[in-house]
Amino acid sequence: MIILKGGVCVTPEGLVRADVAIDGDKIARVAPEGVVPGEGDEVRDVSGCWVFPGFIDGHTHMQCWTGMDWTADSFETGTRAAVCGGTTTIVDYATADRGVTLPEALDEWHRRADGTCAGNYAFHMAVTEWNDRNRADLRAMRDAGVTSFKTYLAYDHLRLTDAETLEIMEALRDLDGVLCVHCENGDVVNALQRRVLEQGITGPEGHPLSRPAEAEADAVSRLLYLAHLAGDAKVNVVHLSSAMGLEAVRAAKARGQENIFVETCPQYLTLDDTRYLEQGEDGFAGAKYVMSPPLRKPSDVRALRGALLGGEIDTVATDHCSFNLHGQKDRGRGAFTKIPNGGPGVEHRPVVMATTFEGELGPEDLCRLMSENPAKLFGMWPEKGRLAAGADADVCVWDPSARWTIEAATQHQAVDYTPWEGFEAHGRAKLVYVNGVLAAEDGEPTGAVAGRYVPRH
Ligand code: URP
Ligand code: ZN
Ligand code: ZN
Repeated sequence: MIILKGGVCVTPEGLVRADVAIDGDKIARVAPEGVVPGEGDEVRDVSGCWVFPGFIDGHTHMQCWTGMDWTADSFETGTRAAVCGGTTTIVDYATADRGVTLPEALDEWHRRADGTCAGNYAFHMAVTEWNDRNRADLRAMRDAGVTSFKTYLAYDHLRLTDAETLEIMEALRDLDGVLCVHCENGDVVNALQRRVLEQGITGPEGHPLSRPAEAEADAVSRLLYLAHLAGDAKVNVVHLSSAMGLEAVRAAKARGQENIFVETCPQYLTLDDTRYLEQGEDGFAGAKYVMSPPLRKPSDVRALRGALLGGEIDTVATDHCSFNLHGQKDRGRGAFTKIPNGGPGVEHRPVVMATTFEGELGPEDLCRLMSENPAKLFGMWPEKGRLAAGADADVCVWDPSARWTIEAATQHQAVDYTPWEGFEAHGRAKLVYVNGVLAAEDGEPTGAVAGRYVPRH
């Protein structure tokens, strides 16, 4: 057994000073009375640390063609980086591109991930066309452990119409599935992209101008009315970025819709649209922040922070979708519409959140937003998201007294920048176990490839 001795455990019953015993791939005991080590047991002193159930990132894109380029991180590098930061499970977006069936896409994502992952992985399934075949295959997906799906209201090669979005929500309601939706009005984005380019604005600063908060709020509002029409279907508004989008969520909740879940990401809680003006060495550093939705105004950041502290946000995920600045994003020098959309974050989410909200969010809040709630929403509870006897031995021992600086030069994400370069980090994942195997220590990987596919229920 592995015995974690003397830490403060973040349990469903609250903070408890207790020893944690790991036996094989399960947590055997969380013992306030202490665990007396037996012969052969490995004891780690974790006094001064918080012991969390491993963090879960419910929104990543690893090893994925996004329409413009392949993401920089593979499942191997992405999950290795994840465990270094304390994230033991990712839920990645498998995508059935048009002409590809859902089972074919799922097989392909298994081929990419199986046998390579330092951390656990599960798959959402993104549905990019709505037809009888895909409708019928939703049940097969559920039987294969895929209980959450994604559709887009923007990106021409991915998006469904409103009527199709309504139908998939109705179909998923019957299966008790959840639909995660990328909320931006695609028509408006297309028109504004043309308009901004015609105005001669071609650099990264054109990106937020072409994807305004109104385009997000309109899509959130439309989605939530459709969910109402679909009999209060379960929906997860992913990567919420704006105060106006938040108002649309509030309006739906005020009319009694209870099956609405809201995700936001550290970038929308810490960075704003002044970043698009960053020049860097080659005058193109603003491209680092080209992601959709874009970074918003400082007032949006304040509104989202308030919503987070007020309990209106259910999960904080990363939308990790990494592209190198040099050799990938910089191919969009002539037109911001050609910059691959997305940024890295899977390694740094826990520490960015813990540091930014130090004194405002305690360990139980961090656990709820980054482990417990994603486990519950995505069908992994009570095996994951819970530090308790019988749960999976995915554990993050967190040292809140650690001090270090986030830098691209020392990160494990396979990408040439981080949006949090120079961020003075408070706290660090000291020991990270995946299925009972030590996967990372003091922010460095052990080399263990202990991740498993997580079929969900
Ligand atoms: O820019 C982003 N976020 N790219 C990833 C795909 C998505 O929209 O989630
Ligand atoms: Zn999206
Ligand atoms: Zn995404």
